[in-house]
Amino acid sequence: MSFYQQVKRVTTHVLHEMKLRGEKIAMLTAYDYSFARIIDQAKIDAILVGDSASNVMAGFETTLPITLDNMIYHAASVVRAVKRALVIVDMPFGTYQGNSKEALSSAIRIMKETGAHSVKMEGGRQILESVERILSAGIPVMGHLGLTPQSIHKFGTYVVRAKEKDEAEKLVEDAHLLEEAGCFGLVLEKIPAELGGKVAGELKIPVIGIGAGPDVDGQVLVLHDMLGITQEFSPRFLRRYHNLNEEIDGAVKAYIQDVRTSDFPNENEKY
Ligand code: KIV
Repeated sequence: MSFYQQVKRVTTHVLHEMKLRGEKIAMLTAYDYSFARIIDQAKIDAILVGDSASNVMAGFETTLPITLDNMIYHAASVVRAVKRALVIVDMPFGTYQGNSKEALSSAIRIMKETGAHSVKMEGGRQILESVERILSAGIPVMGHLGLTPQSIHKFGTYVVRAKEKDEAEKLVEDAHLLEEAGCFGLVLEKIPAELGGKVAGELKIPVIGIGAGPDVDGQVLVLHDMLGITQEFSPRFLRRYHNLNEEIDGAVKAYIQDVRTSDFPNENEKY
């Protein structure tokens, strides 16, 4: 039995151990009780209550509109379902970039009101003071570099990041800064595979990729994308494991048909 299979509760320490042992970390997003329960029972290592909830749950075009109250609602629902996985909650746009005091109170609200185990923040040097203040309160922080969707209006596009030397060097520097500050892990989004492998090789903390190639310590995908619930989003890094959109469509159409033809409910389905 692998080290991970014996673990009863995944902590940040367990993720470090997994990196040391070369066991890959599997992470998915979840935003509600029912899905979180299924993926936790399937023994996912870590669950990210991502601010991608803004897109997949609320239908916004970007992750910017989701509020701290919204994130707390989603995270608390997930935490109620989870018995084993480490739960990480995205700090939403506008709750930590302003000043480190505000950042700490946002993180404290997340920890107190949801029961989650850690928070994730996008950015490097520019948010370092907030990261350090949150860490000093004993709250584990995961960093997020590369494509950082909360800065979409600065970049104007979701194309691959850090292809140029300058941006790649800055990313490596930021990754080291976050590790030195005490972050327990790092997400790298949509960067060249070679750069992903370099960062994971240089850092001691686990590096989780989404479009960062195979040579990182683990992978994360948005649950609704990998299940094929969302259809409009098809980046190269996305592997679809199912076509739930089609299955749900089929089930709903069958139900409509049954209701319309009075096939449902039948003799056994009534009181
Ligand atoms: O919000 C999110 O789902 C994320 C992942 C894409 C890493 O940050």
